[in-house]
Amino acid sequence: MIYLDYNATAPLRPDAAAAVARVAAESCGNASSVHQFGRRARMIVEACRRTVAEAIGAEPSEVFFTSGGTESNNLALFGALRDWRGRHLVVSPVEHSSIIQSGRELERRGARVSWLPVDECGRVALRSLAAVLSDDTALVSIGWANNEIGTVQAVEEFGEICRSRNVPLHVDAVQAFGKLPVAVRGLTLCSLSAHKIGAPQGVGALFVQRGFELQPLFFGGAHERGLRPGTENVAGLAGFAAALTSGRTSGVRMESLRERLWDGLARLHGVRRNSPSEGCLPNTLNVSFGDLRGESLVAALDLEGIAVSVGSACAAGSAEPSHVLLAIGRNADEAREGVRFSLGEATTVEEIDGTVTVLRRVVARMRGTFDGRSQENERRATEHLA
Ligand SMILES: Cc1ncc(COP(=O)(O)O)c(C=O)c1O
Repeated sequence: MIYLDYNATAPLRPDAAAAVARVAAESCGNASSVHQFGRRARMIVEACRRTVAEAIGAEPSEVFFTSGGTESNNLALFGALRDWRGRHLVVSPVEHSSIIQSGRELERRGARVSWLPVDECGRVALRSLAAVLSDDTALVSIGWANNEIGTVQAVEEFGEICRSRNVPLHVDAVQAFGKLPVAVRGLTLCSLSAHKIGAPQGVGALFVQRGFELQPLFFGGAHERGLRPGTENVAGLAGFAAALTSGRTSGVRMESLRERLWDGLARLHGVRRNSPSEGCLPNTLNVSFGDLRGESLVAALDLEGIAVSVGSACAAGSAEPSHVLLAIGRNADEAREGVRFSLGEATTVEEIDGTVTVLRRVVARMRGTFDGRSQENERRATEHLA
């Protein structure tokens, strides 16, 4: 099996798996209990808070644990806009669905949302940001790195503009964290997710700059200083801390593997690179193979033991074209053709070369077998995924 879907989730790191198993086996208490079991659990939670804070250049008191990136993003947007009616939010159309759909919901509830334009690489123009900011702007939200095509945004420049206009800036760093240096000083809010760095799924964090007022989404307890009530996932947080303290993957190595993959695929007829060749996550390559549907290729590769995806795992199985590919100017057919390869620390040269060999065969077979966009063929190719 060749796993090239690290942007969907990274396999659990051995150190993280061991930490989770150790805490679960010790059956430590509830971190809010005053007895020694509770105190031990609290120590694990607070140690993780210190580790996360150190990793992103924050104070431990600025780190709030959540169930993952989706919750952190919802908390950031709904929490910052508070009384939604008439409030102004600024987002881009290439964000993760947890931002896009929160933005649409806020719009439905009466907020004013500005959707910034992006260029053909998915980069948000700084000029367009400056132009839409106004006195009632409650929040600007921007993804540090795009999950589908890997485009990295000019976060520092966004920070400068927002600070000069006194507007809070939220950055979704879920994909950047662990792949690029992520430092939060100068940002107001920043979302992280543990499972993208080899820690357990269902664990995340939101950085909240000291003094910034955020309204909770949940009610029912004083956990996370009332901002995120609910019993902490102690074993998950032990895994999060362990994943952060074990070694990091070299971006240079990843980039060279990614370019090796691209060199191997670029020779195929009709291939198009959807990821930018500069200013991109080092592990991400999104490619279209002429007129072949991304979903059909993903299914065919799965049968060959290679795991890739059409883009966001959250959108998999939907017949909708990729909103990211649409936003960078692809038409609806082209926006269904993207295949995302996302590499990780365990990826080897042999796996990259093996993937190229299999893809050449699969693409040739599909082109020979498929009658254009015959729906019956498409259905048969993907039915085992249903
Ligand atoms: C950019 C981005 N933001 C948010 C999320 C959601 O994170 P989680 O899976 O932890 O809910 C993802 C997940 O793919 C993502 O890529």
